[in-house]
Amino acid sequence: MAQFRTAQADTVIAPSLLAADFARLAEAAAAVEGHVDWLHVDVMDNHFVPNLTLGPPVVKSLKAATDIPLDCHLMIEDPERWATGYAELGAYNVTFHAEAADDPVKLAKDLRAAGAKAGLAIDRDTPVEDYLDILPSFDMLLIMTIKAGFGGQQFMPGLLDKVRTARAHADSGHLELRIEVDGGIADDTIAAAAEAGADAFVAGTAVYGAADPADAARRLRARADAARSSG
Ligand code: DX5
Ligand code: ZN
Repeated sequence: MAQFRTAQADTVIAPSLLAADFARLAEAAAAVEGHVDWLHVDVMDNHFVPNLTLGPPVVKSLKAATDIPLDCHLMIEDPERWATGYAELGAYNVTFHAEAADDPVKLAKDLRAAGAKAGLAIDRDTPVEDYLDILPSFDMLLIMTIKAGFGGQQFMPGLLDKVRTARAHADSGHLELRIEVDGGIADDTIAAAAEAGADAFVAGTAVYGAADPADAARRLRARADAARSSG
C-alpha cells in the first residue's frame, strides 16, 4: 500500500537581481519572465551585512515594471521597522533574518496581515534548531548556503544539513513550508540542494552571468525537478 505523502510543492526558481545590471533591472526581469517563478530582490543596509544595495523606492519601481512575484530578502537590521513596508508595496514574499529580529513570530504575523508571505532567513553560522518551533508562523524558511552579503560566492555543501533538518521537521509536523536555498546555486549544486529538501532556489550568477538567462533558469529547473522526483 502506498504510503501517504504530502503533495510536493512545485519547484520555484528565483533569479537574484543582485547579479543583474542595476541600471537595467526592468530588462533583467523581462529577460526571464515566463521562465521563472519569483524574482529575488536582495535588500542590504550596510549594517546587517557589509554591502549596500536597494530599498523601497526600487522595489516600488520593480513592482510596476514586472508581473513576476517579488521575493524580497531583507539583509537589514531592525526589520521590525522596515519589513511591512515591503509587503505594502506588493512584495509576494518578505523574508527577514532571524539574527536581526526581536520577535520573529510577531513580525511574521504583521507581514501576513499586510498581504505578504512571511519568510525567515538564517545565515551561515546560525543553527536551524533554534527556530524549528516557530516555523508554523512562516510560509518560508530561507537557508543561506553561503555567508550573506555578496553574490558570486562558493556554495557550502555542509549547510545542506540544515535543509535536511528543517525538511524532516516540516514533514513530521505536516507543515506547508517552502525551503529556499540562497548562495552558490548553479548547475553543479542545485541537485544536492533539491535532494536535501529545498524547493525554492535563488540563483544570481548562474542566471544573470549566463549568456541566456532564461535558458539558464530552465536548465536549473530541469535539474532540480529531476533530483526532487528521484528523491
Ligand atoms: C547574497 C544574496 C544572494 C545572492 C546570491 O547575500 O542573498 O541572493 O544574490 O548570489 P549567487 O547566486 O551568485 O551566489
Ligand atoms: Zn538573497
